[in-house]
Amino acid sequence: MTSTEPLLKVDALRVDVGERNVLKSVSLAVDPGQLLVLMGANGSGKSTLGLTLAGHPRYRVSGGSASFAGGDLLAMAPEERARAGLFVSFQAPPEIPGVKNNLFIRTALNAVRGARGEAPLDAFDFLEEARAAARHLGLPDAMLGRPVNDGFSGGERKRNELLQLSLLAPRLAVLDEADSGMDVDGVRALVALVRDLRAAGSAFIVVSHYQQLIESLEPDAVLRLDQGCIAETGDLTLAAQIARTGFVRAAASQGA
Ligand SMILES: Nc1ncnc2c1ncn2[C@@H]1O[C@H](COP(=O)(O)OP(=O)(O)OP(=O)(O)O)[C@@H](O)[C@H]1O
Ligand SMILES: [Mg+2]
Repeated sequence: MTSTEPLLKVDALRVDVGERNVLKSVSLAVDPGQLLVLMGANGSGKSTLGLTLAGHPRYRVSGGSASFAGGDLLAMAPEERARAGLFVSFQAPPEIPGVKNNLFIRTALNAVRGARGEAPLDAFDFLEEARAAARHLGLPDAMLGRPVNDGFSGGERKRNELLQLSLLAPRLAVLDEADSGMDVDGVRALVALVRDLRAAGSAFIVVSHYQQLIESLEPDAVLRLDQGCIAETGDLTLAAQIARTGFVRAAASQGA
């Protein structure tokens, strides 16, 4: 990767889901340490973009390109994308019954560490790190020993996504409504974690509907997705304007 190339560059990305064309032409770029906020009405395709970048097989790319850390993202298998430093959180994190949370996260972490040329963490060292990270996020230790998200409350699932984020320390994290369903302490922990990782060089694309969170994240840019394209790019003023007028009027004033 040359120093002028962004960490992630998405160019005219077109994505179909089922019979529907959801993304028509999405272009954006993210540099290390940058944070973009992605806004858009329900059903506008925000999760589609995240899951497409992750390599979810349901999302079919029918045009455009995406490069990540100098490689062709779309040519990489989902696990290669993760090893290269991409992390995509779920809007609705699924349960994985029968797979213990600590083994799941340690396996993912050691795969990423291996790709970075770092030695794997043994169970003992991992548990020490994981417990410290869980404490920061207000997740009880017991959550580590339970199957992934099995019987977790909505907010606990979201905190568990943050636990993975915190331990994996990705180069780019796409956080899909990470704040939804979390209590005030959880949202505070989210903001602090993002700030710390960003200071260490991680980049973020954060999907959120909530202006208060968006403001506290101090984004480099705010993007509005509409009709399958990035209809507007701005700063916190754009988020404030959307909060004031709603998406329908934001689209109308753009002539969309
Ligand atoms: N299998 C499918 N077949 C047809 N349409 C689909 C399918 N899966 C998703 N969609 C549609 O794709 C559109 C984009 O969905 P997506 O989940 O990306 O929206 P979103 O912007 O994340 O919305 P929200 O704010 O509600 O999370 C929606 O209209 C959804 O109904
Ligand atoms: Mg969504």
